[in-house]
Amino acid sequence: MENQGGLYLQTRQVLLLFVFLGMSQAYSEAGRLSVVEEMLSGALVGNLVKDLGLQVGELSAREAQVASSDNKLPLQLNINTGDLLLSEPLDREELCGSTEPCVLHFQVLLKNPLKILQAELQVTDVNDNSPVFLEKEMVLEIPENSPVGAVFLLESAIDLDVGINSVKSYVISQNSHFHVTMRINPDGRKYPELVLDKALDYEEQHELGLILTALDGGTPPRSGTALVRVEVIDINDNSPEFDHMFYEVTAPENSMLGSLLITASAWDLDSGINGEVSYAFSHASEDIRKTFAINEHSGEIRLKGYLDFETTKSYSILIKATDRGGLFGKSTVRIQVMDVNDNFPEIIVSSFISPIPENTAETLVMIFSIRDKDSGENGKMVCTIPEDLPFVLKSSIENYYHLETDGALDRESIAEYNITISVTDLGTPRLTTQHNIIVQVADINDNAPAFTQTSYTMFVHENNSPALHIGTISATDSDAGSNAHITYSLLSAQDLQMALTSLISINADNGQLFALRALDYEVLQAFEFQVGATDRGSPALSSQALVRVVVLDDNDNAPFVLYPMQNSSAPCTELLPRAWLWIATLARMPGCRSSCSRPRNLGCSACGLTMARYAPPGC
Ligand SMILES: *[C@@H]1O[C@H](CO)[C@@H](O)[C@H](O)[C@H]1NC(C)=O
Ligand SMILES: *[C@@H]1O[C@H](CO)[C@@H](O)[C@H](O)[C@H]1NC(C)=O
Repeated sequence: MENQGGLYLQTRQVLLLFVFLGMSQAYSEAGRLSVVEEMLSGALVGNLVKDLGLQVGELSAREAQVASSDNKLPLQLNINTGDLLLSEPLDREELCGSTEPCVLHFQVLLKNPLKILQAELQVTDVNDNSPVFLEKEMVLEIPENSPVGAVFLLESAIDLDVGINSVKSYVISQNSHFHVTMRINPDGRKYPELVLDKALDYEEQHELGLILTALDGGTPPRSGTALVRVEVIDINDNSPEFDHMFYEVTAPENSMLGSLLITASAWDLDSGINGEVSYAFSHASEDIRKTFAINEHSGEIRLKGYLDFETTKSYSILIKATDRGGLFGKSTVRIQVMDVNDNFPEIIVSSFISPIPENTAETLVMIFSIRDKDSGENGKMVCTIPEDLPFVLKSSIENYYHLETDGALDRESIAEYNITISVTDLGTPRLTTQHNIIVQVADINDNAPAFTQTSYTMFVHENNSPALHIGTISATDSDAGSNAHITYSLLSAQDLQMALTSLISINADNGQLFALRALDYEVLQAFEFQVGATDRGSPALSSQALVRVVVLDDNDNAPFVLYPMQNSSAPCTELLPRAWLWIATLARMPGCRSSCSRPRNLGCSACGLTMARYAPPGC
C-alpha cells in the first residue's frame, strides 16, 4: 500500500460544504476526511482549518471540540493548529465489519454562536488480515469410480479485509488428481471447488492429503491454508483373481478320504467386504460333488469320496471365487487319478470240457480270457500253468487262452488232473489270481481183461457132490466202468465139446467154476477147456486162459446123497447154466424123475424156487 505506516491525508474526497441554515441555527455539513486504518495514535487525520475552512483563531476562541455519536471515535483536536489527530489506532474491521466503504460520522462543535459541523471520516482498508479457513481440516470421501471432471465443494476461507484485500484466489498443493477452481456466488461470495482431473484408484492410494491455500488480493498477498483430506472410497471394481488359471494335481486312487488335494487361492484388490473372497465349485456334477469338497474360506479341496482310476481317470472342476460384492473369478482344477495296482487279474471261463478222452492229443480243455482293470504295467498279465503237467496254454489273441492236452493222456495212469491256472499282473506289488480246474480223463476201452494166470489147474475128488465149487478164475481190466466190467465164460473144450457144459458151470460175474455132477475118475481122469474174460466196452475186448481139471481117485463106494445138498446156501442159480438148469436138476430129483405132473412148487429145499422158475410149462 502506498501510504503504509505514514500519515496521509486524503484530500480528494474532501468536500467542504458549509450550509449556513441561519446564524442562530448552527448546523451545517462539514467535509469528509479519510484515514487509513491501523494508523498509530497521534497520526494526523486532517486539519480543520485546511480541510474544513475554519479559522485558526476561531477554533480556540469558540472552544471547538470534536464529538461522535457515542464518543467512540478516538479523535483529538489541536485547537491551536486545527490538526485532527488519532488518539488510538483505528481498526476498520472492528468499526465497520464487512461494510464498505467504512464511513464514520463525527461533529465539530463551535460555541458563541453555537455551530455544529457534520463531518465524515472514511477509514480505508489495509490488508491486515489473512484469509482464514474456519475448518483447518476438510475431509472429502470420494468414491474411486468418480468420473474425471467431477466437482467437489470445499469450504471457503474468510478474510476480514474487504475489497481487493479480501480472498482473491485458491490454490491446491501439487498433485496429479485434482485442481481447484474458484466460483463466485450470486451474492459475490467466492468459494473453491475441487475438480477431479484423473480417476482415483483405491487400490493404488487409499487417501490423499492436499493443502488448500486461500490468497487475498493485497500487496503482498496474505494467505491461509487448510488440509483437504481426500478419502478414496473403495468400490467393488475388482474381481477376485485366482493365482493360477489352471491347477493340476495328481492323486493316487487309493488316497484317504479327507486328504488335501490342492489349495486354490484368489485375491481381490478391493478392501472390506468387496475384498472378502469365498470359494465354491461352479457347475459341478453330482459325481464331483460326491467326490470332492472345497472349503469356502480357505479354498482347500479335499477328498470326500473314493477315487477309482478304473471308473474315472481325471476330473476337471470349475472353481469360483466370489467377493461379497458379487464379483467373481474362475479357475479350473484338473485332478488326475493315478492308477494303483488295486485290481486282481480275473479269469473268465468261456467253456470248459471235462472229462476229456484219453489217448487223444491236443484235446481242448478250456477256453478263457483274462483281464485286469488296472492300467499300464498294473494291467499287464502273465498267465501260466504248472510245467509238469501234460497240458499247454495257447494264446490266439491277446488275453484269450485255450488250454489243451500236450499229448495223449492215459486215464489208467492219471485219471484226474488238478490244474492251477495262475494269472499275475506286472504291477507293484504283483497281484496273482489262481483258478483251479479239475480235469477228468474219460476212459476208452484200451485195455483187454488180463487173467491173473495164463492157465489154471484144479483138482477135484471123484464122486464129488454136484455143483461143487472147484476153483475160481480171475481177470482184471485196468479200464474203468463198463470197460472194466468183466464177464467170464466157458469156451471150447477140444474133445468133449458137447459134454463140457454138462460138467462145468462158471459164474459169469466172479469166475467161480463148479463141477455140475459127480465125476468118475474111472471114466475121466482129467480134462481141459478154455475160459474167456470179456469186458463190456465197445468194442469189447477179451482174453483167454486154459483151465485143466484133474480128477482125483477116491473110494468109489461111498454113498451118494443128492438131497439135501451139502451146502444149502449155495445159490442154485450160480450152479447151473441157465438154459438147462431145470433138466439137470430135474433129473436128480425123485419127485420129478418119475413124473412131470407134480405141482410146480416142488418144495424141495433151496432149489425149489429156482426149479419152479425154470420148469417148463407142464412140469
Ligand atoms: C487242487 O489243488 C489246489 C492247490 O494245489 C488245492 O487247493 C485244491 O484243493 C485242489 N483241488 C482238489 C479237488 O483236489
Ligand atoms: C456152504 O459152503 C460155503 C463155502 O463154499 C461155506 O462158507 C458155508 O458155510 C457152507 N454152508 C453150509 C450150511 O454148510
